[in-house]
Amino acid sequence: MLQMKSVRVECSSPYEVVICDGLLTEVVGAFPAGKEGSTAYVLTDENVAPLYLDSLETGLRRSFRDVKAVVIASGEEHKTLDTVGHILGELARLGATRSDTLFCLGGGVVTDTGGLAAALYMRGIDVVNVPTTILAAADAAVGGKNGVDLPTGKNLVGTFKQPKRVICDVSAFTTLDNMNISNGIAEIIKCGIIADQELFELLERNTSDTLDFADIITRSVKIKADFIRKDEFDNGERAKLNFGHTVGHAIEKLSGYKTPHGFAVAIGMALLCQNSRVTRLLQRYELPVATEFTSEQIVNAAMNDKKKDGDSINVIFPSENIGECRVKRVTFAKFQREVESGLVYVRDCKT
Ligand SMILES: NC(=O)c1ccc[n+]([C@@H]2O[C@H](COP(=O)([O-])OP(=O)(O)OC[C@H]3O[C@@H](n4cnc5c(N)ncnc54)[C@H](O)[C@@H]3O)[C@@H](O)[C@H]2O)c1
Repeated sequence: MLQMKSVRVECSSPYEVVICDGLLTEVVGAFPAGKEGSTAYVLTDENVAPLYLDSLETGLRRSFRDVKAVVIASGEEHKTLDTVGHILGELARLGATRSDTLFCLGGGVVTDTGGLAAALYMRGIDVVNVPTTILAAADAAVGGKNGVDLPTGKNLVGTFKQPKRVICDVSAFTTLDNMNISNGIAEIIKCGIIADQELFELLERNTSDTLDFADIITRSVKIKADFIRKDEFDNGERAKLNFGHTVGHAIEKLSGYKTPHGFAVAIGMALLCQNSRVTRLLQRYELPVATEFTSEQIVNAAMNDKKKDGDSINVIFPSENIGECRVKRVTFAKFQREVESGLVYVRDCKT
């Protein structure tokens, strides 16, 4: 009997997110085979391939006729249409058909580019996500949003395509460096702030060395699944998952994508919360709360963000109680005042 947790995502095509510890080959092997005689294509990046490609392929060989791999360069700078074009070209060159399945093994860059390629290839083939970063397991691999960046901004091109399944082996996190551990925990802290006070307090009582990752990933995925059930196509409630992201995406862009996604979101959350408990928690997990960029630079960068509409923008504000938040439409001028006051708050906090 395999030891694993599972969360069901109820949406237009429901699926399971399976969370296990050290059992990737067995769990993947037990996955009901793809369509008869079909091939599994594994998309992964150059860092993840030497670590986990063999284990995944071994499991997949138990249920697929053949297994073939496509390896891309790692890093946000490769989350582009060029990379998606390359993946599509490789799938065609290797002979992928509509009955085949694409397994995305890696972080959010692999699941975002792979999800988009799977949505486009022959008008859509099945995709299974196998996240290997905390960030992808808690967030990017679940929910069906995929996308790539344009020079004007992040995630400006993408589709909704739900995976057939998500398989997360938390033992993969043991090879993450400290930066990528903190980066992923930022999205989990976000879940606590917007929807789960207990999760927030659990993070307060632990450090990254004592966290039970299978447990906190399961909790975060349940929160995300709940938003997806209410608003799969992001027309309202799901926007709350973007807490910290308007400022975060602006900072990523201003830094030329040198600031990792979770770090940028952490700064966005600190500026909008202006709450010492949140600031302390972010710092406990070695996340930044301040930025060198001015409120004017941040708001100008955010004006190109996809969520803008005229002279106002939807911003998610935390409520006074941890575990609740609300979406508010504000003008860019008001948004800039909020960011400015956040910048003053975190500067004073630091001294
Ligand atoms: N689609 C969504 O809903 C959604 C949600 C949140 C974030 N995202 C996107 O996710 C991306 C960030 O994801 P990420 O932080 O996973 O980045 P990433 O995919 O770039 O991975 C970070 C680094 O870790 C390496 N890596 C991955 N797994 C590893 C492992 N187990 N051991 C050692 N190294 C490993 C990768 O090669 C890479 O160098 C951003 O582009 C963001 O926009 C998407």
